[in-house]
Amino acid sequence: MTKYFNKMESYKHALKYCLIFLILLPGACREKVVDNSPVDARVSQLLSRMTIDEKIGQMSQIDPSFAGGPEQLKKAVRDGRYGSILNLFGIEKVNEIQKIAVEESRLGIPLLIGRDVIHGYRTIFPIPLGMAASWNPEIVKKAYRISAIECSSQGIRWTFAPMIDITWDPRWGRIAEGCGEDPFLASTLAKAMVEGIQGDNLTDPTSVAACAKHYVGYGFSEAGRDYNTTYISEPVLRNVVLKPFKAAKDAGALTFMSGFNDLNGVPASGNEFTLRQILRSEWGFKGMVVSDWGSVTEMISHGFCANEKEAAFRALKAGVDMEMSSFTYAGNIKQLLKEGKIDQELIDQAVRNILTVKFKLGLFENPYVQPDAQKQILNPDFLEHARKVARESAVLMKNKEKALPLSPKIHSVAVIGPLADSPRDQMGTWCFDGQADNSVTPLTAIKEVLGADKVNFIKGLQYSRDINKAEFAKAISLAKQSDVILYFGGEEWILSGEGQSRGEINLPGAQDELINELSKLGKPLIVVVMAGRPLAIGNVLEKADAVIYGWHGGTMAGPALADLIFGKESPSGKLPVTFVKGSGQIPFYYYHNNTGRPASAKSWTPMDSIPVVNPQSSLGYKSFHLDYGFTPLLPFGFGLSYTTFKYADLKLSAMSMSASGSINVSASVTNTGEMDADEIIQLYIRDRVGSITRPVKELKGYKRISISQGKTVEVEFKLDAKDLEFFNGKENVIEPGEFDVWIGPSSVEGLHGEFTVQ
Ligand code: BGC
Repeated sequence: MTKYFNKMESYKHALKYCLIFLILLPGACREKVVDNSPVDARVSQLLSRMTIDEKIGQMSQIDPSFAGGPEQLKKAVRDGRYGSILNLFGIEKVNEIQKIAVEESRLGIPLLIGRDVIHGYRTIFPIPLGMAASWNPEIVKKAYRISAIECSSQGIRWTFAPMIDITWDPRWGRIAEGCGEDPFLASTLAKAMVEGIQGDNLTDPTSVAACAKHYVGYGFSEAGRDYNTTYISEPVLRNVVLKPFKAAKDAGALTFMSGFNDLNGVPASGNEFTLRQILRSEWGFKGMVVSDWGSVTEMISHGFCANEKEAAFRALKAGVDMEMSSFTYAGNIKQLLKEGKIDQELIDQAVRNILTVKFKLGLFENPYVQPDAQKQILNPDFLEHARKVARESAVLMKNKEKALPLSPKIHSVAVIGPLADSPRDQMGTWCFDGQADNSVTPLTAIKEVLGADKVNFIKGLQYSRDINKAEFAKAISLAKQSDVILYFGGEEWILSGEGQSRGEINLPGAQDELINELSKLGKPLIVVVMAGRPLAIGNVLEKADAVIYGWHGGTMAGPALADLIFGKESPSGKLPVTFVKGSGQIPFYYYHNNTGRPASAKSWTPMDSIPVVNPQSSLGYKSFHLDYGFTPLLPFGFGLSYTTFKYADLKLSAMSMSASGSINVSASVTNTGEMDADEIIQLYIRDRVGSITRPVKELKGYKRISISQGKTVEVEFKLDAKDLEFFNGKENVIEPGEFDVWIGPSSVEGLHGEFTVQ
């Protein structure tokens, strides 16, 4: 018996020493590298072994420049003080820091390496607003797949994209980063972007976690001034602003980012209504929420929290799992726990969400960048795709007397303007890693088509805001010597993007003056606008013979524009946003309500036509501006082609549908012109009477179809009653009644039909 007890004792000792050994041996408790048990079980098991400090570490993200130096960063990672790093670049650096996390930290939890890859990593695609003008989710998905392949090759497995903030305000600099004004178009593109970024299999080394941002309402910043207050009614929030986020969630976006703005008085990063109730409870989002840069501490400036401790409390309670580049969690969560203000479960849930993303990405199995991955950068196929996307994004706005396309046999062209040869500007905002050296500018591409000797080039203005007219005379003289004038203007990249809002959205600098001078020469004047926002270009549309809106078209903007200018393909993009005549018309979006006094051409009294002494009652009393009238410069969905399309035979499969039914709406579209081309065919509806006032039109479907010259295609859309659902302030409803339906080429033209919902 004694022997038995002795034996037991020695077993106990052995066990004790074994335990001590396990604890002391660095890495002995690390997550097993190959473990196929379901993610939830692995997360629970790992969570059960984490200390409170390690948990808070996972909830903190750092930019290396805030770490106090490389050695401090390494030590902090070794100590498990960060779960994620953003803005760390270079394969060696990423692998080095990951090795410390995996092999030297107590639990070996890999880091999530994040970066803003908004519209391309090294192969830069058009700005997202430009991509939205392609109305082509397939090519957009591929663009984001390429971006993911490129950035993952450098160790980035998390991108802060897609940015899917709906906005009605072109003054807002970040309009460039989103998909425009329409919830339906933005939702279809959000899905494409998430699918492209994340790929088919999350554990594939080229799969990158997407981050739907900025949740939510940021695009409604008052006066378009960045970071400004937002007030959004719940119907607009749910019927418009939330739609693309729901689409991103449904497409499987692994992460969301809480925004900077305060929404109806509650900052987005401390907003329990949007983050907990809508995102988690109503939608069932199981992924991770990261705050925007410093947006947790900014709740103090908002006047919503008294100090960092309260900010940490509010953000965590609202459901922000990880804090980006501020340290209120690191500094306060333990204390909040000790004081009983938060319970352990709140922290555990946040860590669970973070670890789940890491497991899903396969980071525990494959934490390092593959050494041969570098080969993927700027692959010729990627550049070819960038050229295609830039081509499909460009919108032809005017083409008087078929000024375009030009014959490649043309004798001479004058290439003028500050953006004709400006490689950095054409890449647009938010491309940290794109390199201007890789851009092919319009000047280079045109020379390639025509031969350098046929191209007379002068900038005329050195940059978009330039007001120095010293080169005007030379520009005019070159233009006189040429058969055609090609003017490339717009905005420098720095005039749009974060913190880059404008009060007036005209063509900056002396560009209008230069265009005016050039337009007097009696030569065909083609203007290509390259910009990060929809500019008020009334003067350009008036003076030029042809206008192409090329946005900031990315690395391959030059060849893409040359393809269109010389007719290799027809322009086919359509506007994803309303173009206004001037800032005074903002906000102007096509799905506005009708008002009690809608204006018509007859009712508008233009300001100049009002006699000096006139009775007030003669002015019409309708909803218009005396100076701008009531129509935009160019409507949503608009875009011309080198060919023409005829819409005919609108058919409805039934005149009515039940609240759970559907109808098919179809039309035939014929290419009646002289060139094969794509047409973007749009389906709109109007719910005539509702329990709250309903928009005058709503996009419910679209198709981009290639139609050969002379050919007719039948286009059919299925309209489910569910598509007619809206939030009326209390609940989601499909209301019986009469509806209008249109199939057409833009939001202001189309074949009309009607149906009822029973
Ligand atoms: C922006 C985010 C971005 C983050 C990280 C913030 O300033 O608002 O969109 O993802 O910085 O770079």
